Amino acid sequence: MTAQYEAHGDIAVITLNNPPVNGLGYETRKGIADALARANADGQIKAVVLTGAGKAFSGGADIKEFGSPKALAEPNLLSVILAIENSAKPVVAAVHSVAMGGGLELALGCHYRVGAPGCKVALPEVKLGLIPGAGGTQRLPRVLGVEAALNMIVSGEPVPAEMLAQVPGQKLFDKMAASAESLMDEAKALAREKADVRPLPLVRELPCKHPKGDAYFQFARNMVGGMSKNFPAPLKCVDAVEAATKKKFDEGLAYEREIFINLMWTPECRALRHIFAAERAASKIPDVPEDTPKREIKSVAVIGAGTMGGGITMNFLNAGIPVKMLEMKQEALDRGVATIRKNYEAQVGKGKLKQDKYEQRMSLLSTTLSYDDIKDADLVIEAVFEEMGVKETVFKKLDEVMKKGAILASNTSTLDVNKIASFTKRPQDVVGLHFFSPANVMKLLEVVRGEKTAKDVLATVMAIAKTIKKTAVVSGVCDGFIGNRMIEQYSRQAGFLLEEGCTPEQVDKAIEKFGFAMGPFRMGDLAGNDIGWAIRKRRYVEKPGMKYSKTADLLCEMGRYGQKTGAGWYDYKPGKRDAIPSPLVVEMIEKHRKDLGITPRKISDEEIVQRLVYALVNEAAHILEEGIASRASDIDMVYLTGYGFPIHRGGPMQYADTVGLFNVAQSMQRFARNPLDDAQFWQPAPLLARLVAAGKSFNQVG
Ligand code: NAI
Repeated sequence: MTAQYEAHGDIAVITLNNPPVNGLGYETRKGIADALARANADGQIKAVVLTGAGKAFSGGADIKEFGSPKALAEPNLLSVILAIENSAKPVVAAVHSVAMGGGLELALGCHYRVGAPGCKVALPEVKLGLIPGAGGTQRLPRVLGVEAALNMIVSGEPVPAEMLAQVPGQKLFDKMAASAESLMDEAKALAREKADVRPLPLVRELPCKHPKGDAYFQFARNMVGGMSKNFPAPLKCVDAVEAATKKKFDEGLAYEREIFINLMWTPECRALRHIFAAERAASKIPDVPEDTPKREIKSVAVIGAGTMGGGITMNFLNAGIPVKMLEMKQEALDRGVATIRKNYEAQVGKGKLKQDKYEQRMSLLSTTLSYDDIKDADLVIEAVFEEMGVKETVFKKLDEVMKKGAILASNTSTLDVNKIASFTKRPQDVVGLHFFSPANVMKLLEVVRGEKTAKDVLATVMAIAKTIKKTAVVSGVCDGFIGNRMIEQYSRQAGFLLEEGCTPEQVDKAIEKFGFAMGPFRMGDLAGNDIGWAIRKRRYVEKPGMKYSKTADLLCEMGRYGQKTGAGWYDYKPGKRDAIPSPLVVEMIEKHRKDLGITPRKISDEEIVQRLVYALVNEAAHILEEGIASRASDIDMVYLTGYGFPIHRGGPMQYADTVGLFNVAQSMQRFARNPLDDAQFWQPAPLLARLVAAGKSFNQVG
C-alpha cells in the first residue's frame, strides 16, 4: 500500500508511503482518496492527519507516469484535493522534509498545515517546462501573497518553511512544530482542537489581490520575459498567478489546467523532461549493476600541473578530497599552484567563496617531484602532454609504483585508452577520465571505458564524478570519444560553408540564434585555432581521404590563433573579448574561393543550422550503432553539458527526434548532392536509415 491508514484514537492518520519521495502516482492518489472516505465513514474518527513516511512529505508527481494514461487516471490530483476540501472532517497536513510540486498542492488543499523545522517547500514545475497543474498557482498566492508566491513559482527553487512562516499575514503554515519529532503529536493536537470547527477553512476562499494590480504584473512580465527567453513556461506562470487575482477560483483553476496541458506538449517542455530523464539514465551503465562494489577514494594524485591538471585538482579540493600534484620540475609545480590560488582568489574576490573555505581547500593540496610520494593514492589522474610516448613513460612508472587496486586514469582527449592501458600489467584498473576545459567549471566528464576496464572501476569513477558534481557519460574507445568525434564533423561543415559563400560571422550568428552559446568560429578563437590545426595535420596523414576546407589552415598560417594572439577568425581589441569581423579574413576566404574556382552563393541561416546540427546527428548515429555510446540520451548529455548545445532543444538527438528523423534524412540526402560538400559523409548512417524506415526515433533505441 502506498498510502496507509491508521486510527490513533479519534484521529485517522493517512501516511503516504511510496519511496523514495512519496510520489503521487495513481496507486498513492487512490490510496489517499480511499483512506479519506474511510475516515469520513468511521463514526469514531473526528479529524484526519495527512503525512508522508521516510524522507519526504511528498516530492510531487510521479515522474515515471509522465506522458502515460496513468498520470491522468482518476482520481487525478485535482480530484484528490477536491475530496480533501470537501471532507466533512478536518484534514491537517503534517509537512516535514520536503513538499514539492503536487506534494505542496496537496498540502494546500488541506484545511490546516503544520510544518516541521527544516522542511522545504517548492513548486518546481517550471524546471520541467510546466506550471503547477493542481491549483498551485491559484492557492499559493492566497496563502503567501502574490509576490512571494510568484517568485517561488517562477524560480521553482525550494524555500525553507521557517522563512515562509515569517512572511507577514501568511497562511501557508498554521503552526510550526517545535521539532521534527513532535510534528505528529502537534498535528494530531491541532486536528483535535479543530474537530468541531464548521465551516472548515479553505484556501480557495481566501482573497487574492496585488495592491498595484496590472502595473505589478506588467513589471513581472518584463522581468520574467527577459530572463527566460527560450522558454514559454515562466511567462505562463505570471499569466496563471494574475488569473488568481482576477478570476473566480474555479475559473482560475481551469485556466491553470489549460496552460499546463498546452505546455506539456511544447518542444521546450519535452526537451526539459528529456534532460531530466537523460541525466538520471547517464549515471547507469547497462552491464554494470547498481550494487557493484566500489573502491574507496580517499586521496587523489594528479600528474601534470598544467591547464587541465590544475582544474582537475580543484574539483577534488572543492569536494574535500586531498590531492597531490606531481610534475617533473619545481617551476611547473609552482606555476600550477599559483594558478589554482589565482582562481580561488578570484572567487573570494567576487564573494563566491569564503576566505576560510579557500584556506581549507588549499590545505588539502600538496605537491611532489617524486612518484614515491603518490604511491598510496587511491586514484591517480594523468594530465601530461598529449603524446603517446610521454603517456607510456608515465603509465609504466605508475604501474611500477602505485599500490594494488589504485585506479589509473588518463585525461587524454585523443589517444587510445586501450593502448595506454597496455603499458601497464593492470589494464583492468585503467580508465579514461576526459575532463573539459576549464576543468573546474565544465560539468561534463567523459568516462572512457577501455576494453579491459573493470566494472568496479567504472562504478567507482561514476560515483566519484557525482561527488565532484560532474555529469559523467560513459564512452567507448574511439578517436575523439563521443564529443570531439562529433564536433569534427560540425567543424568540417563550418569550413565548407565558408568556401561556399558564408562569412564566419554569418555562420556564428545563425547557430547562435538557434541557441548555441557560441558559434564555431568564435569558439575556435576562444580555444585557440592552433589546437584544431595540430589535429588536422595528424588527420591528413592518418585519413588522407577525408575532405577538409583549407581556410582554417590558411588562418593559422597567418598566425591568427585566436584571442590569445589578438586575432583569429575575428579581430580583438587588447584586453577585450568582443569579436570584430575582420576584413583580412574575409579577403583570405575570398581569395581561397577564387583559387578553387568557386562562385559564392547566398546560403540561408536554415541551411547553416541544418548542416551543422545534422552533421552532429549523423556522426552520433554511427557512434550509437557502434556502441561507443549506450543510449541516444547520453549523447545529448555530452552536448548539453560540454558543448553549449541549447538546453531548450534537448540535445542533438532529441532535436532530431523533434524535427522527425524522416525530415532529417531527407535534408542529408539533399546535402549529399552538393558537389562542394562531402557526399559520402551525408549518406544517412545505417541506424538512422533503419529508424526512418521503421518510423521510429532515437529515443526508442535500446
Ligand atoms: P599543459 O601543457 O597545460 O600541461 C601539461 C603539464 O604536464 C605541463 O605542466 C608539463 O610540465 C607536465 N608534464 C609533461 N610531461 C610530464 C611528465 N612526464 N611527468 C609529469 N608532468 C609532466 O596541457 P593540458 O592542456 O593541461 O593537457 C594535458 C592533457 O589533458 C593532455 O592529454 C590533453 O590532451 C588533455 N586535455 C586537454 C584539454 C584542453 O582543453 N587543454 C581538454 C581535455 C583534455
